[in-house]
Amino acid sequence: EDPKLLEAFEARVAADEFIEPKDWMPEAYRRTLTRQISQHAHSEIVGMLPEGNWITRAPSLRRKAILLAKVQDEAGHGLYLYCAAETLGTSRDQMIEALHSGKAKYSTIFNYPTLTWADIGAIGWLVDGAAIMNQVPLQRTSYGPYARAMVRVCKEESFHQRQGYEIMIAMANGTAEQKRMAQDALNRWWWPSLMMFGPPDADSPNTAQSMRWRIKRETNDELRQKFVDITVPQADFLGLTVPDADLKWNEEKGGYDFGEVDWEEFYSVVRGEGPVAKERMEARRKAWEDGAWVRDAAAAHEAKRRERKAA
Ligand code: 3HC
Repeated sequence: EDPKLLEAFEARVAADEFIEPKDWMPEAYRRTLTRQISQHAHSEIVGMLPEGNWITRAPSLRRKAILLAKVQDEAGHGLYLYCAAETLGTSRDQMIEALHSGKAKYSTIFNYPTLTWADIGAIGWLVDGAAIMNQVPLQRTSYGPYARAMVRVCKEESFHQRQGYEIMIAMANGTAEQKRMAQDALNRWWWPSLMMFGPPDADSPNTAQSMRWRIKRETNDELRQKFVDITVPQADFLGLTVPDADLKWNEEKGGYDFGEVDWEEFYSVVRGEGPVAKERMEARRKAWEDGAWVRDAAAAHEAKRRERKAA
């Protein structure tokens, strides 16, 4: 690539300017953004499955309406993000094909089963809580379409997190059995939520370049630490115990010290060996096939509309 163009690009990024679709950008910038944004979109769409599993079994009409709204929001987040990724020159079909073939990743967190209603609370509280931690800085990511998509996503994510935490408050203050379910959900969702932030910075092949090109504004470990520091007091307020014997407030650091994530588990789930990974991919492939007629009909309608307009 022309070193002068690269220099001008890096100066723009360093000046916190947004890079727009028609601007010159290094191929590596285009590639890593297509990778991250499309995988972010895949995560939103696959993320509908764990919660969708409980819409018909929500304990009240109010809870059902809230969960329905949240799952629909996630679909919208996925579509915003696919559109943002398409501005970099990759088609929707190519991205979907990469997901179905296993070439593209989606967040490990969605490969865990939702066993009880308390999981819906834990997901809103912890998973959307972690998502907020990760997505707030992404509102200032250097690629314009991605940053703008994040502004709307973050507003909706706050509602997702609040409604989950409200479920946890209701259950932690409910019957002994409900409190036990809430603790069980925290036990199963705590560590997978920490894995959402990615591997340790020292083992992260993309972080250095992403920080340099201001795709990332904070590193995996920085965001993970912030998440722990904000969430532990919330667990204390619920009267629940975070499943980490090494968790301890460190006055000097002004944050919590916490135990080591099970990176073996992380990498095995990234490789597609998560507890319900197979079911998730089957569900996505089936949804894509079942929806083919809708895409064909929309395409045929568009073709007729164009013909009429041209006539
Ligand atoms: N699950 C699956 N893959 C993961 C992962 C996870 N939890 N964490 C890291 N990885 C993958 C990365 O994608 C990368 O593989 P790749 O090069 O083939 O893409 C590899 O592990 C090494 O990780 P890096 O830290 O080097 O990769 P990144 O710099 O891309 O950092 C990330 C990973 C922090 C997830 C970053 O990609 C990111 O911020 N993505 C945007 C946010 C996102 O995707 N969030 C996922 C949850 S979706 C969500 O929150 C929905 C909400 O509604 C619940």
